[in-house]
Amino acid sequence: MATQQKSFSSNLGAIMAAVGSAVGLGNIWRFPYICGQYGGGAFLIVYLCFVFLLGAVLMMSEFVIGRRSQHRTLQAYGVVAKGKKGWNVIGVLGLITCFFILSQYLVLSGWTTSYIWDAVDGTLASLGTDAGAISDHFSSFSVSTWRPVLCLSIFAVLVLVVVLGGVQSGIESVSKLLMPLLVLLVLVLCVRSLTLPNAGRGVEYLFMPDFSRLTGQGILAALGQALFSLSVGMGAMIVYGSYIPVKDNLFSTAMWITACDTLIAVLSGLAIFPAVFSCGFDPTGGPGLVFCVLPNVFNMMGGAGVVFAAIFFILLMVAALTSAISLLETLAASCSERFNWKRLNSSMALFVLTTAAGVVFSLSLGRLSHIKIADLTLFDLVDKLNSIYLPPLTALATIIFLGWVVPDADVRDELSNHGTIKIGYYPVFRFLVRFVVPVALTVVLITGIKG
Ligand code: PHE
Repeated sequence: MATQQKSFSSNLGAIMAAVGSAVGLGNIWRFPYICGQYGGGAFLIVYLCFVFLLGAVLMMSEFVIGRRSQHRTLQAYGVVAKGKKGWNVIGVLGLITCFFILSQYLVLSGWTTSYIWDAVDGTLASLGTDAGAISDHFSSFSVSTWRPVLCLSIFAVLVLVVVLGGVQSGIESVSKLLMPLLVLLVLVLCVRSLTLPNAGRGVEYLFMPDFSRLTGQGILAALGQALFSLSVGMGAMIVYGSYIPVKDNLFSTAMWITACDTLIAVLSGLAIFPAVFSCGFDPTGGPGLVFCVLPNVFNMMGGAGVVFAAIFFILLMVAALTSAISLLETLAASCSERFNWKRLNSSMALFVLTTAAGVVFSLSLGRLSHIKIADLTLFDLVDKLNSIYLPPLTALATIIFLGWVVPDADVRDELSNHGTIKIGYYPVFRFLVRFVVPVALTVVLITGIKG
């Protein structure tokens, strides 16, 4: 195993790794379909407000906790609270959230892996432009037993290999390589999509706000999406924060990450909506947008469609990989530190546990679909936990902790790199941390629970 440096080598490395965590299925699979469901442009405006007012603030808060403590998620809160007992419980909550997110993420990433295969071996192309056949293919595949489990496992092994490589030689170098590749692939797809006939209607849908289509549910979804997309509310940015070099400016680092993540989400929208409109599909197609609608769109492009389909699913997998890496790293590094396990053992143990849970969630769509809790299959249950309850709860606890428990002087000291850089934004940040973000998260949680 490579030597284990406990920090990124440079600010660029830290930004790339954290962008790798943030940019994932959330940007390319989830953002376009949620945006499509809740009204296009109007949703985008609300989303942007949440991303910069709440998401970026939460990211900075997690960075402060991570870098100040120089500890991972299970111990960071206790260290920053300076011995006040009990605060580590937020870290435990974060790791539980992380565990469930990674297990579900593996299932979706497995689907992506399988679709690369389908694109390359001609299966997708053979379905032609028959929308029924394409969605049947997806439904029968996702409820089947072996193939999703196999693909999920292959993907999980890839994640494990990178995490075992360590912080600099594994995570940082893979992110530095894959992130530019990802941007390139999205741009190729954007160009293709924007040059299709009638592409303008898709662009209009994404950017022209129609507030009559925005509902309360849409606003909630925008907040949930902002947290998920920026990887906050599960302790991941605490671990990455603890790896950020001491001289880096946490404010500008968080802003770069937030901006890149948002840009990729918007570019994904620009790659998807024009194509969907041009081929006459419904943009409100929901979670199946990427797996059911896009193959159809690619097949309509004729011969080159196969190439674009392959590019698209590779893109999705690359994005998922760097996010899954950050989730496994958060779990493995936190447990290794807390229980004094070797990094190798800790990574292996968590790889086995999350993969096993992923397999169960995958099977719960088919073979185990009879097992229900509160009338939900296990997959739907974990989906609900991951989108409505756990991340906002962990985020709320974290922001209250930073705003009301951690001494103000410590937060200032960390953000200003011990007084060496200016933090003129601090009063606004403090106000957001103490009042705006907690209130917004509480409203979301209550509305979500009332359902
Ligand atoms: N932000 C990732 C995405 O958009 C998901 C993720 C959440 C990754 C939490 C790490 C931690 O897909």
